[in-house]
Amino acid sequence: MSEIREEALGFAEPEESVPLREPERQYYFMDRMRSLVAEKERELGRKLTMHVATFGCQMNAKDSEKLCGILSYIGYEETESEDADFVLYNTCTVRENANTRVYGRIGYLGACKKKHPGMRIALCGCMMQEKHVVEKLKKSYRFVDIVFGTHNIYELAELMYEREQTGKPVFRILEETKQVVEELPAVQKYAFKAGVNIMYGCNNFCSYCIVPYVRGRERSREAADIVKEVERLTANGVKEIMLLGQNVNSYGKTLAEPVSFAELLHRVSLVPGLRRLRFMTPHPKDLSDELIAEIAANETVCRHIHLPLQSGSSRVLQRMNRHYTKEQYLALVDRIRSRIPDVAITTDIIVGFPGEIEEDFQDTLSVVEQAGFLSAYTFLYSKRTGTPAAAMEDQVPAEVANERFQRLLQTVNRVASEQAEKAVGKTEEVLIEERNPENGLLTGRLSNGMLVHFPGDASRIGAIADVKLNECRGFYYLGTLVS
Ligand code: 5AD
Ligand code: SF4
Repeated sequence: MSEIREEALGFAEPEESVPLREPERQYYFMDRMRSLVAEKERELGRKLTMHVATFGCQMNAKDSEKLCGILSYIGYEETESEDADFVLYNTCTVRENANTRVYGRIGYLGACKKKHPGMRIALCGCMMQEKHVVEKLKKSYRFVDIVFGTHNIYELAELMYEREQTGKPVFRILEETKQVVEELPAVQKYAFKAGVNIMYGCNNFCSYCIVPYVRGRERSREAADIVKEVERLTANGVKEIMLLGQNVNSYGKTLAEPVSFAELLHRVSLVPGLRRLRFMTPHPKDLSDELIAEIAANETVCRHIHLPLQSGSSRVLQRMNRHYTKEQYLALVDRIRSRIPDVAITTDIIVGFPGEIEEDFQDTLSVVEQAGFLSAYTFLYSKRTGTPAAAMEDQVPAEVANERFQRLLQTVNRVASEQAEKAVGKTEEVLIEERNPENGLLTGRLSNGMLVHFPGDASRIGAIADVKLNECRGFYYLGTLVS
């Protein structure tokens, strides 16, 4: 989508030469930055380096590929070291401990910059959409050069150029956006698999969750644009695509011509060369029978549904604003399993939500047993300022939550290994993803998301192969290559 921009530039630049439309405008600034970087390279007699650190979810991982694409175009070389010429942190704020870690690491960057004054430090992502974070950065971390949020990652080059022209820190955080600028360069982390955004933002307002406040309202991309992006990726050798959205079930509702998620899945699965199609994340409140039928009938769609439970107590679920009960969740799991018998169901669970008592927690344990999750991400409830749950009075003491968390882990691990054991002895199709440099084994991913390690040649990375699962080691299998 392109949009015309009206506000004046914050620095001296021949206004008439700066394009108003996107993405032309960003290409203009990328070219400007490219000249500045080339000049600096000549001065230093070496390439400039960049380091992008990503915190949080798949959405951030995808955004980082776009940010790396812009930085590579400008001329930076990627490095593992954080003592780089340009360091960018793409942050997450879903839980408080993520924020604490980021502050600690920014402190370390400050020390690097003292030794290396030409260094530039940029911060972006969900944490930057919170006012108190920006205030703290302005006050206590004055060495930070560029700060932007979730709505304008495409503007990186423009903000970098502004920093160089003005010599001052640049803060640009937008409250909301309707604009989606997609046509910029991106660096793919893997040649054989890629994530594709199908929608941005979330309208669900689960009472513990900060995402709707930092990622804004739901916006879907046009189905034709998504299909075109997948076509481009498969033409370049990508075999597996993950469609990304905070709640994929509400995909397409706001489009001029509404398209259901099941229909989108169908259209994408027809793209030539695509071998595997995944998606993340459906909400249990509105997972349709149409979607279950599509997955059941479509061999390209992986046998894996990540279905966040959050709590097994109907009382807690109501306070979480999840719009389903324990019984409805279990009935949905039954519906899925009866129509897609080989599907793996995985989940997210929060322990210690305000007001959770032992009886509620027992309900969670019982759903874990009954649903038979193949794996579960478990989280201690984290109080996020500004969410309704943060204002609830009956916060659970940390010792109680910690103790429940340990018990939950034990149940989850037992149930998960029971599920995983069922596949031992079978031969499954895997996508070979990497080679472990320590033991030389290859790692492949099954359709259901599990990993298997097996001997083989690194030249097979990126290929799809059959692997016999010999032994289950909890979270992964040991296997042998069959073909
Ligand atoms: N505390 C703990 N976990 C949370 N999640 C979201 N918000 C919070 C919070 N305040 C978890 C949910 C969600 C996952 C991405 O993060 O389980 O599904
Ligand atoms: Fe957060 Fe709920 Fe939206 Fe997921 S669906 S991002 S948990 S508000």
